[in-house]
Parts: sequence; structure tokens; C-alpha cells
Amino acid sequence: MGKEKNRGVKDDKNMEIIYIPVIKQKQLRFRWLEILSLFLLLVICIWMFKPVIVEKVVNQWLKKTEEKVDLSTADTCTIDISSRFDCYPEKSLPTELECNTRNCCYDAQDIGGAPVCFYPTNYEGYRVTSKIKTSTGINIMLNRTTQSFRPNDINQLIMEVTYETPTRLRIRITNGDHLVKRWEVPLDITRDKPGSGDQALYKVAVPDIGSPFSFSVNRTATVSSDTVTLLQTTGAFIFADQFLQLSYFLPSNYIYGLGEHRDTLLHSMNWTKFILWNNDQSPKENMNLYGDHPFYLMIENGGNSHGVFLLNSNAMEVLLQPAPAITWRTIGGVIDLYVFLGPSPNDVIQQYTEVIGRTFMPPYWSLGFHVCRWGYKTANRTMEIVERIRRYGIPQDVQWNDLDYMDHNRDFTTGISTFGNQTGLVEELHRLGMHYMMIVDPGISNSAGTGKYYSYDLGVKLDVFIKNVSGQPLIGVVWPGPVVFPDFTHPKSQDYWTAIAADFHKSVPFDGMWIDMNEVSNFVSGSTSGCPSNSHFEDPPYLPSVSGGKLFYRTMCMTAQQYTSIQYNLHALYGLMETKASHQALTTILGKRSLVISRSTFAGQGHYGGHWTGDNLSSFYDMYKSISAILSMNMFGVTMVGADICGFSGATTEQLCQRWHQLGAFYTFSRNHNSINRPDQDPGAFGPALAESTREVYLIRYKLLPYLYTLIHKSHMMGDTVLRPLFFEFPTLVDTYNIDRQFLWGPALLISPALDQDQYTVEAYIPVGYWYDYYTGERVIGTGDRINFTTPLDKINLHIRGGYILPARRSGLTTTESRSYPFGLIVALSLFGDARGDLFWDDGETLDTHEKGLFNMFTFSADQNGVYTNPEYIGYKDERQYLNNVTVFGLDKQPYGVTANGQPTAYDYNKQYKALYITDFDVTLLEPIKISWKFSDE
Ligand code: NOJ
Repeated sequence: MGKEKNRGVKDDKNMEIIYIPVIKQKQLRFRWLEILSLFLLLVICIWMFKPVIVEKVVNQWLKKTEEKVDLSTADTCTIDISSRFDCYPEKSLPTELECNTRNCCYDAQDIGGAPVCFYPTNYEGYRVTSKIKTSTGINIMLNRTTQSFRPNDINQLIMEVTYETPTRLRIRITNGDHLVKRWEVPLDITRDKPGSGDQALYKVAVPDIGSPFSFSVNRTATVSSDTVTLLQTTGAFIFADQFLQLSYFLPSNYIYGLGEHRDTLLHSMNWTKFILWNNDQSPKENMNLYGDHPFYLMIENGGNSHGVFLLNSNAMEVLLQPAPAITWRTIGGVIDLYVFLGPSPNDVIQQYTEVIGRTFMPPYWSLGFHVCRWGYKTANRTMEIVERIRRYGIPQDVQWNDLDYMDHNRDFTTGISTFGNQTGLVEELHRLGMHYMMIVDPGISNSAGTGKYYSYDLGVKLDVFIKNVSGQPLIGVVWPGPVVFPDFTHPKSQDYWTAIAADFHKSVPFDGMWIDMNEVSNFVSGSTSGCPSNSHFEDPPYLPSVSGGKLFYRTMCMTAQQYTSIQYNLHALYGLMETKASHQALTTILGKRSLVISRSTFAGQGHYGGHWTGDNLSSFYDMYKSISAILSMNMFGVTMVGADICGFSGATTEQLCQRWHQLGAFYTFSRNHNSINRPDQDPGAFGPALAESTREVYLIRYKLLPYLYTLIHKSHMMGDTVLRPLFFEFPTLVDTYNIDRQFLWGPALLISPALDQDQYTVEAYIPVGYWYDYYTGERVIGTGDRINFTTPLDKINLHIRGGYILPARRSGLTTTESRSYPFGLIVALSLFGDARGDLFWDDGETLDTHEKGLFNMFTFSADQNGVYTNPEYIGYKDERQYLNNVTVFGLDKQPYGVTANGQPTAYDYNKQYKALYITDFDVTLLEPIKISWKFSDE
């Protein structure tokens, strides 16, 4: 009832009337009078004290507002300097006004590399609009709520998270509307189908629907380690048509990779910027060089490693800052991020090369010594150099020619009147068991006249040359003068390239190709008729700080048209595609393995060929820097790599050249190359001292080639690195993280060269464990400290790691000759008195021997009492594969009565160094072998 009274009732006319109890009506009347008089009093007061009150109220309001403003600024702009993400990357010192237009925070203090204009913590970008689980991951839709300061924001995005394998995660972010297909780098490597994410070593976290977008990738906790956040993105995420930016925090400061650059091996997080845009630029700090490898390897605190690859070929800059954090900024394509969980550095590279392609299997001869120069001028002079090197007994497998051989600098032609008998030269090299490579540039001369130059005529016929914006062949200028460039994305380009190479091969039976100038380098920027003005490809709204200040600087116009896209997207891929086409052409022509060495590279290069580090200087500094370069390339999956020994530009010196041969003998791709108009620098050019030490070091290389070949086979099959920084083997030893003056061949051979002028002592880091001097077998007990080694001019420090057995073979003047000699083993006993090793062996040139089963696999083991070999798999019997010597380092007691398969054999024991040399037996490796000895007290 009460309820009814309070809520009112309706009268007969259906009108609602308010029911108020009588007593309350009286009270109300009284209160109205009271309120009215109080109100009148207030009005009079205000009228009297108006200015004071108004001022106070306004002030109070203003104060509150100010406080509010201050408060919000403090919240969102009070950011540790190291964690400020640059909101004005096109200017180092924008004004406050410029910064305000981007709704970013401003702090003009000079803070050593940190941006003055930076994103507030609550910078609005995308919000999550939906999340859908799929069988292999999760799809997330994003919507941009506030426009960025870049033209053409893409407002709807889709982020596809795919759990590819337990150790590989893929995050792809692209436009969500599917109306426009954005440029994506074609990766044609076959891989396993993605899994369900079960047992994944990672977890991906994305905020709830409706929340601002971010994501993190975490390494899941294990028994031995806690969860680690491998990447945590910030709000500075922009996805506009020609500006994609992704910033995230990192778990440590230990970052490697991001090539191709000249830098320290371990990069500095102190506001370091790398530009990725392939460029004909001799190696120099802070410049974009020949190749593009948007991949890094990071060691987390505690020693686990992970890797990240951004599959994107557009011009890009990568920034490292002390937070630690990274920003990827690219001007096209999509975000296609792969995360590899390792956890060892070598695991990371295995996982990375599974995506981009494992190392090609090089022919055995290509592991020999290569000699080249620009300026031999003639075939006769080239042969004189070969003979000079042979006279000194220096092993050499491959002789090269630069432009000198060509007719008017035209590819696949011989300048018979200028160069002489190239065919005879190659035949003579073959007769000596050697091989021949020559330079090929991508620019095809268009000025020989119709019917006079097959490479040009066939290209025109097949219509395979790159076009300019108007559909006409784009004309550049390189060594032959005006040239056109083959389009290696064209469906007929492979036939074209194979045909012109095969045609030349009929007269000059070359064994490999040296592909140069393929960034593409062009002596006129753009083309002979310039590039279109007012093009947002030639002149994009945001330009990473590339050399020359233009994307088309000393290369093609960005609007140049290829079959699959324009140069703006394809530029970075030219070298890779040319390597692939050359590799395929050689495979077709030779029907066996070959070598392609390319100057320009992209992720995946190692699957088809190798790389040399370009036009270095003849300086001790450049020699030292070559170590970081070759180690980084091995992390990029480019196993066959080297720098020009003795230096390319400038005049080398005898001492530099002597030291460089010692170092270069341990590059996977070992070549002496010299520029034109410089004094000779082949190892026969300086007289006996240099020649003798070069001979010694190449005899060692050649002897150890079976070990190197086995490492390369592991790289080919499993993606292991061959040239390794020390931290790859000792990832928990922080002291190894920035060592860039020493490196390893695989796990077991430590190379510690002298790298400075007049340096006769090398202070080398020796990791924990037993190591043995290569020359004497003297044991060095590594404690993770530095040890001084006397290093005269004729010596390089080499140490074999205890616990390993290295297969070896006596060196000849060529690998062809070496292959006729018996094998040997170098056994380095561990602290526990044991050792292991293996050998992959085949004929060194047949294609796909592993796949066809045409190989042998041997394993070796040793203990205090003997050395044992076992043929695990025999599929190649065409060659005499005998063992005739074994060296054992670290045998503490004098052995007696050494036998090989039960037969007494000769031996010698060095008491000082505790090294046993067993010789003069000859037993086939195709059967198990037991070499054993006794001790006097037995
Ligand atoms: C540039 C290359 O980097 C260099 O090695 C070569 O000698 C010259 N081009 C001439 O072909």
C-alpha cells in the first residue's frame, strides 16, 4: 500500500496525479519561504563582493585545469630518456611547435642521441577490434582510432599470429581490407606446415578487444629459467602506406646481425642507426652497404638466445636505443616478423635458415685458395701469376679474371685482341687440376649494334630487360657504357641467363661466376634520362637516411618496372635473384656443383651462393673489420664468405699482406683480390718470406679441408654456422660476447690472428677447457682469461679444442691433388681424456650427393687407450679413402706398442708436449679401425 501512495495513482481521466501526504505539504510550504530568502541574501552578497568571488572561482578553476594539464603531461611524457621513441625521425632537432603538431612530447635538453620529440606513453594508434583463434594461431583485427602524422594511414589491419613450430613464431601484419594487395617478399623455400603451438617455447600476449593495440612475445618459463619478455611493443606503431614503424623493448643489450654494415660485431645500444638499402659502397661505418639482412640475434641475460627476422625488402632503418629497445622503420611492404626461440645461438641460426634456405653445398675445389686481380690485362699475365705462385709451392685452386678479359667490358665476351687466349688459359688451369671463375656484371651493353652481341639481342627478343616508367628499356651506365638490366623476376629470365652463359661456356669452360655491381650499381643515378619527378616512389614521404639522399642514388629509378613489381620494392632483391639465376644456369650447364660469389645479397643468399665483402681498403683496420663481417654473414646463413685478402683499394704492404694471408686462410671463401693500377699483391709478388709463410698457412688450410667440408655439410643440412664467434660455443660466458678479433671454425678450431702493424704478441681469450697449440700440441688450460702468445710474422695462432677430433688430409698444390692422398686425424683429448669427431665425404662435385646417398659418413672417438673410427654410412667408394696418420694431443703418459687394426705401427711421443704421432700405417676407412697402445705400467 505504501508503495502505491508514494508512486502516485491515476484518476479516472487517466491522468497521473502526485499523492503527497498532508503533513508533508505543510512542511514544504514553510521550506520554500526559507530557501527563497536565503537565495536573495546570497544574490545581494555576490553583488557586493562580486570581483573578489569571481576572481577566486576562476582562479580555482584555472588552478584545477593547470593541475590537470600538468598531471597528464607528467603521466605520459615523463619517460626515462633511454626509453623515448623518436616521434620526429626526419629531423634531429625539430622545434617544439613541430613536435606539438604530432601530439608528441618535447624536451629540448641535449641528451646525447635521445630524441627531443618523443611519443607519450598513451599515444593513440590502433585498437583491437576482434580476436579469433585459428587452428595454428590467432587472427587479430585492428582499427586505427586516431590518425598518425603520416599520409595514408591504413586504418584496418589484420595481424596473423602463426605458431609455425615450437621454436618459430610468425607475426604478419598487413592491411585488413584485402582490396589492395601490398608488396610481400617472395620466399620460395619449402617448409613444414605450421603446427598448433603445442609445446611452443613462446607465448604471445595481445590486449583485450577494445583496448589500445600492443603485443608481446614471451619465452615461456622452463625448469632452468623464468619467463622472459623477448619483445614488448610500444604505442609508436604506425602502418601507413609508405611508413611502417614497429618499436619494442628488448630483454638485453646483446644484439648482433642487422647487416650489411661495418660495425662492431656486438652492436651498441647507444642510439645506433642502421640503414638497409643495397648500395655500391665500400665498407665504411654508418653507411648502407651492398646487402640487406633484416635479422638479429640476441643473447638474453642468462645465456639463452633468440632471433628476429623482419621479412621486408623496402628501404629500411633500424634503431637501437639503451632502454634496450629497437625500432624497425620501413617504407613499404608489410610487417612479417619471425621470432626464433633458439635457445642456443646455433639453434637460432638453424631455425632462421630453415625459413630463408640452408647453405648450398659448394664444390670441394671452391674451398681452395682463389687468386684474382683487376688489371692482369692478358691471359698470359694471368698464367704467369699462377706459375709464380706454384713455383713457391703455395696451394691454389682457383684463378679468376676481372673485367680485363672482356671485349669492351661486355659480359660473356672475350677481348681476343686485348686479352688473348682465354680458352687456352682455362684449359691450362684445368690441366693443372685448377678451376676458373670470371666476373659478370648485370648491365648488358646495348650499343654493340643489332646482331653483334648475343646477350643483348636475345634479351631484346625475350623482352627480359627492366623497363622505365614509360615501358621502354631503362638505360643506365656501367663499365661498357650504356646498359640495360635483366629482370630476374621475369618468367623467361632464367632461360635467358642460362642461354647466354651456356653460349660463352662453349668457348670458355668456366667453373663458377663472380657476380659484381648487382645492387644494382649504376654510374648515372636513375637512368640516362633521369627519373620521373613528382613520384612518391622516387621521392617518398619519408626517406631513411640512405647514401646520396635519394633511393635511386647510383642505382635504377624506383619507378623502373620489373615483371613482378617496381624497383621500389624489388631493389634489395636484385643480387639474390641474380645469384639464384646464375646458380641455376651453372647447374644446367655443368651438371655438377659450382660457385657463385655475389657482391649484393639479401636474406636467403647462402642458399644459392656466397659473398665477398666488397671494396675494402689495404689497411690493418680493414683486415680486423673483416672478422665481424664474415661472422655476421655466417649468422645471415651466408656460409661461403671472405674479404679481399691484402685489401682491394690502396697499395698493400708486405707485412699487411703476410698477416692477411694468415687470416684469410681461415675465411670460408679465401681470395686475394686487388684493384686496378695497384702493385701486384699475389703471394708470389713479395719474395720468399711472405711466400713461405703463406705456403705454410695454406698447407694448414688444405690439410684441414676435410674438417671444413664436414662443417659446411652440417651447415647445408642443418643450418649450423661454420665461422663462429666465441659466444656461439660459450653463450653463458659474457666475456666472449664482444670478441671480434678471434673466431672459430665450427666448435673446435680457434683462430687468433695478429691484426695490427708490428704486432708480435697476441693477447687471446682462451675459453674454459683444454686447448692445444696446433703446431706443437702444447696444452693450454683455458680459464676464460687472456693469454699472451708470441706471434712472429710467419705465424698465426691456432688452437684445437680438447674433446674434438679433426679429420685432415695431406695438402697438395690443389685440392684435386690432395684428394689422392690418405686421410689423417688430429685428436685433442678433453679434460676427461676423450674426444669425438666426424667426417662427411663425397666426390666433391656431384649434385645432391646427400639426397642421392652418394656419400660416406664416418665417426671417430678416442680415449686414453686408443682411437676408433667407424663408417656410419658408406655410399661413395670411388676413391681410395685410407687413414695413414693420427696425432693425439694431451696423452699424459708415454704409450708403447701402438697398433693399427692389430698391426704394429710407427709412432713418436713428444714428452714435453705430451703429443703422440702415429704414422706409416695404411688402413681403409670404409671398415672400422682400431688404433691402440699400452702404457709401460700395464
Ligand atoms: C667492383 C668490385 O667490387 C671489384 O671487386 C672489381 O674489381 C671492380 N668492380 C671491377 O670489376
